[in-house]
Amino acid sequence: MKIIATTTQSNTQIKEDFVRFIEEGGFSYIPRQRKSIALLCSEQQASGVVVWQPEGPVLHIGGELFFFHPSMAKNRIACFRKFKQADTLIKASQLQPGDSFLDCTLGLGADAIVASYFSSGGQVVGLESSRPIALIVRWGMRMYNSSMNWLNAAVNNVEVINAEHHSYLQALPDNSFDIVYFDPMFRKPILESQAIAPLRLMANHQELSAEALNEACRVARKRVVVKEMANSREFERLGLIKLEFSPHNKISYGIKEIC
Ligand SMILES: C[S@@+](CC[C@H](N)C(=O)[O-])C[C@H]1O[C@@H](n2cnc3c(N)ncnc32)[C@H](O)[C@@H]1O
Repeated sequence: MKIIATTTQSNTQIKEDFVRFIEEGGFSYIPRQRKSIALLCSEQQASGVVVWQPEGPVLHIGGELFFFHPSMAKNRIACFRKFKQADTLIKASQLQPGDSFLDCTLGLGADAIVASYFSSGGQVVGLESSRPIALIVRWGMRMYNSSMNWLNAAVNNVEVINAEHHSYLQALPDNSFDIVYFDPMFRKPILESQAIAPLRLMANHQELSAEALNEACRVARKRVVVKEMANSREFERLGLIKLEFSPHNKISYGIKEIC
């Protein structure tokens, strides 16, 4: 998948951060020269164009826009702050303040941000095997700055690593994270979920392997948690204990308890 990078029409200056982003992503820089995104794409025979905007990089791909935004995480944390409504991921993982959390399937980072908030500054690392997703989310998180300090702190505490989780887990020592978490692309996607439509174009759709899960059990000190559709057969295939919070939830969590 060829992805090129350019500036906006109005600000064609090449800032230091933009240079670092291009280098980290291995993208080719193409001067904007007042051209439209569609024209740049066809001239360069690229699948996508990243535009470097003041708020963070925005990827134009397949008629969709992909950029980092913490809206889902913000709503979930706000529910807890306003109504003391417990988040199901935090209930499933039993995450405590100070715990370390390894998110093996980062995506847009909503779960990692929620874990970061509830770990109160504990180490949170997110692995993402798709390079464009990892780069857009890493830089979007770095550049994120809202009026809510609690949200900025949670977002900025997430370390994003572009890596495939099985090989990354294999290289980690035993017991190196309290919680290891997986949220693979669902075997049967929720069709109405438009929020992740652009992510689906670039995501790794492979099922979670039993080998990766075994490595996770070696790396986790407390719990391995897997998110899936409530009616999924993945819980059975992977030998997970399925947690039942509410019969109305479409989503469920499976766990492997370590201690
Ligand atoms: C359903 S999304 C995760 C959504 C995420 N939990 C959130 O809150 O935004 C799954 C993500 O995991 C990534 N992924 C799938 N398999 C992976 C693997 N083996 N290693 C690393 N990332 C993987 C996909 O590319 C995709 O971006």
